[in-house]
Amino acid sequence: MTRIRLAPDDGKAINLNWRDRFVATDILRDAYVRYEESLNPSAPPFVTLDDGLELGIVHSDVPAIARAISSMLTCSLEDAKNENGGHLPSAVVERVQLEIISPWGVANLWGQTGHRFVLSRSGGGGRSEILATILVGQSRQTIFFLTGRYNNLRHSTVEEEVDFDQPAGDDPDQRWFDLFAFPEIERFKPWGYHHIANFVVAKGHRGERLSRRLLEGIIERYAKDHLDANERPIEHGQHLLCGRGFWQIGDPPWLTRMERLGFYLRWGAESFFIEKPWAPLPAVFDGDRKIGNLEYNRSFGLPERYQGPRPTVASDEHLLERLPEVIALSEDPNAKLQYFQTMFDFC
Ligand SMILES: CC(C)(COP(=O)(O)OP(=O)(O)OC[C@H]1O[C@@H](n2cnc3c(N)ncnc32)[C@H](O)[C@@H]1OP(=O)(O)O)[C@@H](O)C(=O)NCCC(=O)NCCS
Repeated sequence: MTRIRLAPDDGKAINLNWRDRFVATDILRDAYVRYEESLNPSAPPFVTLDDGLELGIVHSDVPAIARAISSMLTCSLEDAKNENGGHLPSAVVERVQLEIISPWGVANLWGQTGHRFVLSRSGGGGRSEILATILVGQSRQTIFFLTGRYNNLRHSTVEEEVDFDQPAGDDPDQRWFDLFAFPEIERFKPWGYHHIANFVVAKGHRGERLSRRLLEGIIERYAKDHLDANERPIEHGQHLLCGRGFWQIGDPPWLTRMERLGFYLRWGAESFFIEKPWAPLPAVFDGDRKIGNLEYNRSFGLPERYQGPRPTVASDEHLLERLPEVIALSEDPNAKLQYFQTMFDFC
């Protein structure tokens, strides 16, 4: 198949065109990744699920596919804008929509280090409707992002690749990483888990259990540990996931949703923004009322969630020794919760 790469600036636009989710079925089928070393090389490069659903890993630099995924992610992220009742300042959302989940971003930024799964169904007339997507790190080492300045890092080489003393702007005394508090790098990511990102079901198809179908489809057909444990055959000619499970760095409002889907909180692994006099944070509003950092942190159960019983899901990847620090941060008026971490075990 000939793939035409998007030129550097082509596709670098906010893509709110929901119709882009409908792509020619031929293009979708051609866009599925074939893994030459698959243990079942003659199998199709996708799997068919119940209800006419189709699941597979695509080459995200096929322009029609990049546009489809971008449109789904961009339309969804509109809801996160503070002015639309969400938790993020509009300027932050628009930067992400332009730089990261534009067709260009989907094709070029994440493409090389993630498996881009898409769930689709026939939309009639030779077209397929893309219903849901998730990006899964190909390597268990991949970290898709670390602050807004780094993408696609390898966990084992972060210390060498990242300049932790870099200035935030022109003043060398004002350092970029002073604006964040997150777990020490050695344990920032749980070893053996695949980073996930861009997990979205198309608006208009929410509440149809599609996110469950997507996750179950990946686990049952692509997770090697699960296939081995259940003695299931490999039904496709694509890559398998060889890690222990999924790992997510998630925006605070996502925690409840992810827990409903079987993910569990990684205790003590929160990231915070640290507000400095030279770097004030954009205000967050509840209606017309400005919310302070302490109120924001409390609205996501901090620090209370760490003042009760210990985690119900046992894992050697919880950061229990960091709990005092997380509690102190959540009670610091200059610290604002940025992310929770969640995990999901394949077996
Ligand atoms: C989160 C999301 C992927 C769920 O997809 P969905 O197909 O609508 O979810 P399902 O129908 O499969 O429901 C799965 C479970 O999640 C729960 N759920 C879904 N949306 C929820 C929400 N906004 N808040 C709380 N729980 C939610 C459902 O109640 C259901 O739980 P139940 O079976 O125990 O009742 C979808 O709402 C979405 O794309 N949201 C925007 C992006 C996002 O938040 N992504 C997650 C972080 S990357």
